[in-house]
Amino acid sequence: MPTLEEIYTQLPEDLHTLPKPKSDKELEEMNYHVRHWMSSLSGSIKIGSKEHKQMVCEMFRETFNPYRPTFMAWPKLSKEEIERLQSLPIWDIAVQTEGKARLRMAAYVKELLDPEMADAIARNAWEENRHKEVLADLVKFYGIPLASEPPYHEPKDAEWAYLVTGFSECWDSFFGFGLFALAEKSGFFSKELTETFEPIMQEECRHILLFANWLAWHRANLPFLQRVKFEAKVLAVYVFLIYERIGLIETMDAEGETQYQDANFTISGATELTGKPTSISEFLQLCLDENDRRFSGYDRRLVRPKIAPTVARWAVKILPKDFGRNLIKG
Ligand SMILES: [Fe+2]
Ligand SMILES: [Fe+2]
Repeated sequence: MPTLEEIYTQLPEDLHTLPKPKSDKELEEMNYHVRHWMSSLSGSIKIGSKEHKQMVCEMFRETFNPYRPTFMAWPKLSKEEIERLQSLPIWDIAVQTEGKARLRMAAYVKELLDPEMADAIARNAWEENRHKEVLADLVKFYGIPLASEPPYHEPKDAEWAYLVTGFSECWDSFFGFGLFALAEKSGFFSKELTETFEPIMQEECRHILLFANWLAWHRANLPFLQRVKFEAKVLAVYVFLIYERIGLIETMDAEGETQYQDANFTISGATELTGKPTSISEFLQLCLDENDRRFSGYDRRLVRPKIAPTVARWAVKILPKDFGRNLIKG
């Protein structure tokens, strides 16, 4: 039985022997395949079926981006740009989030009886570990100070921890897509920097696509009583996340560890990243547009994460257009 560290640090393939794009055209083609995927299966598929599982696992394997963290070409930035990056309050929590995500996913892989799904989630854990390496490389390159990381403990309830990580990623990615676009538009990040970081954003889109389909597949295959128990757990995860996000849980996270800082970095980051005042409706609409754009290339028969986009769509309908314009500003 592999250890958790072996699960999140080892891919079935050798990354060093995977073919690397040899020209700009090949790089463009590879980027296209990371973002566009259609199953070879034809017709409609039943959610929860063998075909559904096969489809989502294939999507995850075949849209893999083989970049190596040490080959990330971080662009040269001006002194002001570096200072702006250094002042963002997100780096510690971002590194620790990736550290926890890789461990929680690897822990859940150990419990999974289905080899295909276990392989897909193990690959997800490996990609989280790669994100952590990319972030480590980025902070080193731009001289961003980091707090020392707390020890990462194996979760006692792996399914609970996987659900906490999965649902958190769904919300963080939804807002993250909008913030990333906002920072690009406002010039907070240079074009070169956003282009270098872009593969990580798209990877989070694939991660939540995998999570939403695992969730749908898992739900569909549970016998009635287990399903009821599972839905109660999902509800408890949501209550936990709401309490965590509104800052009521300041001293405890999913494993009872002390949280050192604001877990809600997607929201606190908004005020830092925007160049001009944006209303909450405009920001949410941007998140929705970016969310649709990032998912648009993947097979329509796969389930999409729904809760964050649905809540945002309602908020856009209900909120006055200019509401909060002065809350989100640079
Ligand atoms: Fe990640
Ligand atoms: Fe992720």
